[in-house]
Parts: sequence; C-alpha cells; structure tokens
Amino acid sequence: MKERLQKILARSGAGSRRTAEQYISEGRVSIDGMIVTDMGIKVDPADHEICLNGKPIHSSEEKIYILLNKPTGYVTTLSDPQGRPIVTSLLTGIDQRVFPVGRLDLDTEGALLLTNDGELAQHILHPSFEITKTYAAKVIGRPSVDSIERLAKGIELEGRRTSPAKLKVIRETVRFSVIEITIHEGRKRQVRKMFAAIGHHVLELKRIAYGRLKLGSLPTGKFRIIGKKDIEKILAGK
Ligand code: URA
Repeated sequence: MKERLQKILARSGAGSRRTAEQYISEGRVSIDGMIVTDMGIKVDPADHEICLNGKPIHSSEEKIYILLNKPTGYVTTLSDPQGRPIVTSLLTGIDQRVFPVGRLDLDTEGALLLTNDGELAQHILHPSFEITKTYAAKVIGRPSVDSIERLAKGIELEGRRTSPAKLKVIRETVRFSVIEITIHEGRKRQVRKMFAAIGHHVLELKRIAYGRLKLGSLPTGKFRIIGKKDIEKILAGK
C-alpha cells in the first residue's frame, strides 16, 4: 500500500512526522538510491528501498494494542464505499496501521480492540479459545425469567444453536430493561438476534468488556493504548 513518505519514516522510528519532514527537506532521505525532497510523495515500502542517512529504514512495525470506545455511526471496516466514518479515523497520533479485532455493528458502541498484531487477533477471534465479550443491551419491555434462561442455555438461531451465555438483569423499568449478556461467539448481529428471538427488540447495544478487560470510564470516541497486563485480562476471559 502506498503511503506518504513522512508517515512511513515516522512509523519506522525515525521520529515524529514533523521530524521526518525535516529529514526529507534536508535531503537525507532516498528512495531506491535517489534523494527525494518532495513532501507529498507516496510510496509503497514493500516495493522500494527507503533510506535515511544512507541506511535502509526498518519498516517492521512495533506491535500496538488499542482499546477504543467506538461511537455509534462508525464502521469497523478499514474503508467504506458509502463514505461513512471509519473507526481508525478516531485514532489521532497513531502511525501504525492497525485493524479492528472483530466487528461491531454501525449502531453498536463500546469496546473495540485495534492492533497490528495479526497473531493475537486470530487468537482472540478463533472460536476454540472462547474469549468472551460482554454487552449491555437495552431492550424493549421486561423479558421473563424463562426467556432469559432460554438465552442462557442457548437458542436456535438461523439453524444453529447458540452456545451457553451468561445474563444479568441490571435495570428494569415498565418500558425497557438493561441486560448484561456475555457470549464467546461472534455471529453477525448475534446479540440483537438473540433478544429478537425472545421477542425483545434491542434499542441500544454497547460492548462493555473483552474477556476481563472492561471498557470502564473511557469516553465515547476516545481510545487508550493498552499493555501486556490488559491483553492478559482479555485472554483470561474465558
Ligand atoms: N452483537 C450484535 O448484535 N451486534 C454487535 O455489534 C455485536 C454483537
């Protein structure tokens, strides 16, 4: 993928983008042996040798893990033909190319992990590891104890039974209920479909935890870089 030269340099550890721009303007950067001073140039580091001070830069990226509180209205794909906002546009100051681990619907908010670590992403997403995700679902009405039990045991959804889930009623009013639901599968619109199957439409949905890693008080639209301890909390959440 072609990217701006200063971005590639910054990601390689040459410094901030501004420092990288300075290096370019000083004639210290070359592409395939040719000095470049053009700031707007785009290049694919996979196809060309980029040197700083005559030495090839290492384009191997440092692994980064980000927990974002995704707002509704954002897509979790890396581009959108319909021009809707994409989650990575919220990651100001992050130079690494990260991708979301799994997806959240356009109308779902909450915890979204983004990383450039494909191995960890695969581990988290692979069904055999059964990493849990917890959602707070605001649903119309008050599901009966029986219905909640049906969801907990697993229900038939599009010809396949859902795995057992954990549910906890957090709040009940005459018109709606807030229910925490923990699942380890990741079928499309699964939580919404599960509640629809017991006759309770989901009004709002928020992912509040990946495994044992909670979203906590991270404001909507904001992110934090997470470390090893937090990753362990995710992986411990079986
Ligand atoms: N279940 C859903 O229905 N939607 C999501 O975004 C995630 C889980």
